Amino acid sequence: MIIQPKIRGFICTTAHPQGCMQSVNEQIDYVKQHGLLSQGPKKVLIIGASTGYGLASRIAAAFGANAKTIGVFFEKEAEGKRTASAGWYNSAGFENAAKQKGLYAKSINGDAFSDEIKAKTIELIQQDWQGGVDLVVYSLASPRRKHPKTGELFNSTLKPIGQSYTSKTIDVMSGQISDITLPPASEQDIDQTVTVMGGEDWQMWIDALLEADVLAAGVKTIAYSYIGPQLTYPIYREGTIGKAKNHLEATAHHLNKTLSAIDGQAFVSVNKALVTQASAAIPVVPLYISLLYKVMKEKQLHEGCIEQIVRLFQDRLYSGNSQVPVDAQGLIRIDDYEMKPDVQAAVSQLWEQVNSENVMSISDLAGYRHEFHKLFGFEVSGIDYQAECEPEVSIASLQEMVS
Ligand code: NAI
Repeated sequence: MIIQPKIRGFICTTAHPQGCMQSVNEQIDYVKQHGLLSQGPKKVLIIGASTGYGLASRIAAAFGANAKTIGVFFEKEAEGKRTASAGWYNSAGFENAAKQKGLYAKSINGDAFSDEIKAKTIELIQQDWQGGVDLVVYSLASPRRKHPKTGELFNSTLKPIGQSYTSKTIDVMSGQISDITLPPASEQDIDQTVTVMGGEDWQMWIDALLEADVLAAGVKTIAYSYIGPQLTYPIYREGTIGKAKNHLEATAHHLNKTLSAIDGQAFVSVNKALVTQASAAIPVVPLYISLLYKVMKEKQLHEGCIEQIVRLFQDRLYSGNSQVPVDAQGLIRIDDYEMKPDVQAAVSQLWEQVNSENVMSISDLAGYRHEFHKLFGFEVSGIDYQAECEPEVSIASLQEMVS
């Protein structure tokens, strides 16, 4: 079939297999150009491994450190006329490339919040890996979570706290800029968002892995957070999602205590705002990202997920120094370029000026749209989008595990 993008709001309901795989290959090439880490991780579990920061972490570990990887994700395979999800094709592409290089790579597709998927993952580690995992990357972004103990369903929301918030926002595809007013969150909204996107599940993963004795001595675990500028505080850092990130960051402190028994360490890395499926869903943020990209590209400071994670691995987690550099709150900051005062001053100035008429010239909306298409395997160079292609693609290790 011929696969074209079908965009509905902030999501694309189709994905292109060759485009996704090619874009994984581009990330692999980037990592290869940066050479091997001398003291990188050897056995890496990535939870949320199929898109965005988690996929980049898997690629950086495998191709930047020759690490064996197990990736956990929640993706859909193709069915009839429906294509698979982008993360499915990305994972198929990743496994193919890993196999070609003789690298161990297996994947588990299912709800990472569940006890069942945790147990399956542990079983696989026990079966395949001697000596345990030495890096656990926790990179889930989900709108909901079924609690494994109570079965209750929790929904994460993106709302301000205390009072309603009015701001500029953009309809990315039409380029229309308008004001949006977001009502304040209820206590229940806050609690639910913390339950979905806070640290409880990360803690459950580490507890389960520790109890099963599948973590290596000196293990590191890392989760990703965001702070951003004052401009987005009401919707991000001081909103419902910010409360969840506070909880995630506090969880790292608990995990540090838990893991001290095996000389392990837990980190939260504050990453740059980037176009991913998760960030596209946040009101206000896509307009901020379009302006940020414009400024950072002009200053030659722009990075995507893979550039960020390579820097995280090379300069922070595995730099060879005895201490991982962190800020006063104990956070790794790879949002340092985004938060440079000159970058933020330029973005604020553009924010005041931007409207539907000038958005194409003063922001990088074109770059945002391109990146958004690329998330789903479209607008990837070298791909013939008029050619027939087969939407059913298998992920090698998933087949092995079923058979
Ligand atoms: P993403 O949407 O690209 O990736 C989410 C991943 O989670 C995918 O692999 C998906 O399959 C997996 N997933 C979702 N629900 C699942 C479930 N129930 N079971 C198993 N897997 C599941 O998201 P992105 O943007 O890479 O976010 C990852 C982390 O990075 C999040 O904590 C996010 O807050 C953080 N972050 C993102 C930034 C951004 O601008 N995109 C900036 C800084 C931090």
